[in-house]
Amino acid sequence: AGLWTYDPGFMATAPVESKITYIDGEKGELLHRGYAIDELASNAEYLEVCYALLYGDLPNAEQKQAFYERVSNHMAVHDQLRKFFEGFRRDAHPMAIMVGVVGALSAFYHNHLDISDPKHRDNTAVDLIAKVPTLAAMSYKYSIGEPFMYPRKDFSYAENFLYMMFATPGEPDYKVDPVLVKAMDKIFTLHADHEQNASTSTVRLAGSTGANPYACIAAGIVALWGPSHGGANEAVLEMLDEIGSVDKVEEFMEKVKRKEVKLMGFGHRVYRNFDPRAKVMKETCDEVLGALGINDPKLELAMKLEQIALNDPYFVERKLYPNVDFYSGIILKAIGIPTSMFTVIFALARTVGWISHWTEMHSEAFKIGRPRQRYTGETHRKFVPLNERK
Ligand code: CMC
Repeated sequence: AGLWTYDPGFMATAPVESKITYIDGEKGELLHRGYAIDELASNAEYLEVCYALLYGDLPNAEQKQAFYERVSNHMAVHDQLRKFFEGFRRDAHPMAIMVGVVGALSAFYHNHLDISDPKHRDNTAVDLIAKVPTLAAMSYKYSIGEPFMYPRKDFSYAENFLYMMFATPGEPDYKVDPVLVKAMDKIFTLHADHEQNASTSTVRLAGSTGANPYACIAAGIVALWGPSHGGANEAVLEMLDEIGSVDKVEEFMEKVKRKEVKLMGFGHRVYRNFDPRAKVMKETCDEVLGALGINDPKLELAMKLEQIALNDPYFVERKLYPNVDFYSGIILKAIGIPTSMFTVIFALARTVGWISHWTEMHSEAFKIGRPRQRYTGETHRKFVPLNERK
């Protein structure tokens, strides 16, 4: 043994110091740069939250304007990048496409990118925040065989994303419903950062080798994709579909308790009392469905699941509560987003968190991330020549 400790799942390991996000799992508290998540989600726009994550404080009016303009100026992607899409089957999962096309940005921004220069790092951060929504919308358009839409300078960030998702070239006056824009913006804010989760740790680890930051973000997208992490929002809707109706909920919960299936959208490594993001998400869900006059039976189903889980000793003992992704799918569905795009939206929103952590790491002295292992294989044995091997 060396100086290290065996810690599967990093249950007790903090490999970094960070000033970006604070979580108190017992109290259900989440602060970005000291600001509470519920206040941010209710009062600030997503790009203001991005600014705070990147630079440490919420912007004043002038800083806000300048930052919004910078993001808006970088939303368009290189024309050659469009050709990358044609390499994918139309039925490819949009997350698979995102892994490829965001990674491909590194091919466009590499030769002249000096990551030791703070200005270059800042341009990269803004560029990624700006371009990921465009690529996300393109991955959807490609899957349905519609032409790509260009971002518009007169639209806000969330508005632009919904416009690029749903408008077609034949609709020059396409208007995005402000209720949907607000809901989308809030969903972005609720997913913006969450300290050293699996995908952010992946970005940090990849970044610790000095690799291209666009490629590091692609690594983050990979880690986010799994159903234990960002893929949970898609898995929740699939689960609700599978359960089908309220009268099947109890039967499903028995299956969960027999550990045949997991209750998706429940549980969190850090939150042990509640996930503060889930609370805001639930309120947003009620607001959006109310404003749109949608009566989605899935909401009733979700609420029944939650109610059983919050009272059943199995879930109470294990401190399992709804997480951020339990209600997000119902809102996204109401907005008109197809299920396969849910995790892409999480990736879009989390890009700022990833790049803020990458930037923070590169702004200070850091070491390459290099965990150790507990070796459980063969001890030293004698080499056997090929003709003597059984
Ligand atoms: N459904 C049923 N049982 C669960 C669940 C669940 N969703 N989550 C944990 N448990 C049980 C688990 O079986 C274990 O029971 P026992 O002590 O009898 O073995 C106990 O609770 C502790 O769970 P764990 O697996 O040790 O917890 P973890 O911290 O390693 O895992 C998690 C955290 C989020 C991966 C897990 O709760 C999970 O898979 N949840 C479902 C997927 C999900 O919603 N993920 C999104 C997380 S929030 C958004 C994000 O960060 O991406």
